[in-house]
Amino acid sequence: MDPPLLYDCSLITGASGGLGEEFASQLAPHCRRLVLVARSEDELGLLRDRLQSENSDLQIKVVNADLTSAEAREELIATVKEGEWAPSLLVNNAGMGDYGEFVTGDWKKMEQMLSLNIIALTHLTHGLLPCMIQSGHGAVLNVSSLASLLPIPDFAVYAASKSYVTSFSEALRLELNEHEIPVLTVCPGPVHTGFGEIAGRDGSLEDSPAREWFFVSREEVVLEALLALQREQPRSYPGLKVSLVATALASMPPAILRYFMRNRPRAVPEQED
Ligand SMILES: NC(=O)c1ccc[n+]([C@@H]2O[C@H](COP(=O)([O-])OP(=O)(O)OC[C@H]3O[C@@H](n4cnc5c(N)ncnc54)[C@H](OP(=O)(O)O)[C@@H]3O)[C@@H](O)[C@H]2O)c1
Repeated sequence: MDPPLLYDCSLITGASGGLGEEFASQLAPHCRRLVLVARSEDELGLLRDRLQSENSDLQIKVVNADLTSAEAREELIATVKEGEWAPSLLVNNAGMGDYGEFVTGDWKKMEQMLSLNIIALTHLTHGLLPCMIQSGHGAVLNVSSLASLLPIPDFAVYAASKSYVTSFSEALRLELNEHEIPVLTVCPGPVHTGFGEIAGRDGSLEDSPAREWFFVSREEVVLEALLALQREQPRSYPGLKVSLVATALASMPPAILRYFMRNRPRAVPEQED
C-alpha cells in the first residue's frame, strides 16, 4: 500500500544511507521538493540522480552538512527556512549509536552522538517550525528507537538520547496541537543499515545485541512510519514483533525490567571475582 501523502517540500536528515535513504525513496513520489542532508557528498549525489530519474517533476536540493556543527545547522536553517524550500515535512532521522560499557567508551564519540541525536534534532526543529506555523501546515517526524523505552546496559547513552527524542516529541506534539502540526515519534527495533557498524567498538563481543529474528526491513519501517504520519498517530513501532515488545515493556513494573536488563547478555564480559 502506498501512503497517499502530499508534501510540498520534505527535508530528510541522514539521507545518504539506511532509513534516511529509504524515507527519501518512499517520499519522493509524494513531494514536489526534497532536501537531502548528510555529510557524504557522493552518496547524496547518487541518490539525487536516482530519485530524479524516477521522478522527473521532483526538485531536489542536496545539502552537505555535519549536523554536529552549530554553524552547519545555522547555515542549513537559513538556506531553507523561507521560500520554496521551506519544509512542510521535517524528517529528523540522522542518528548514531555506540555499543559497549559506558566507562570505557570514547568520549568524543559519545559527545558526537549526543550532539547529533539530541542537539541537532532539537535545533532543526526549533529553526524550522516557525515557517510551518506561519504557512499554516506542516509535520515533524522524529526517528527515535525502541531503545528509548528502557535503560540498556552497554547502550546506555544511546538509549538515554532516544528517551529524550521520544519525550521531547510527545510534548511538542501537544504544544503544536493548536497549530494542527502533527509530530510523529518513530521507534524502530533493529534494522540492517550502516548503524551497527558505526555503533560497534573493537573488541565488543557482538556488534548488535539484537537477534536476527527481531530485525525489520528498512522498507517496512519507513512504510509503517509514513502510514502512521498520514493517520496522525503519535507513535509508530514498525513491525509486529517490535510493537508487541513495546506493549510488553510499557506494562512491565520497573523491578522486573531491571531484572531482565541485569541478566541480559553483556557486550563486555563481566569480570570474574
Ligand atoms: N538501524 C537500526 O537498528 C535502528 C534502530 C532504531 C533506531 N534507529 C535510528 O534510525 C536513524 C537512522 O539510522 P540508520 O539505521 O539509517 O543508520 P545509518 O545507516 O548509519 O544512517 C545514518 C545517517 O545519518 C547520517 N549522519 C551520521 N552522522 C551525521 C552527522 N554528523 N551529520 C549529518 N548526518 C549524519 C549518515 O550520513 P553521513 O555519514 O553521510 O553523514 C547517514 O545518512 C537513527 O536516528 C538511528 O538512531 C536505527
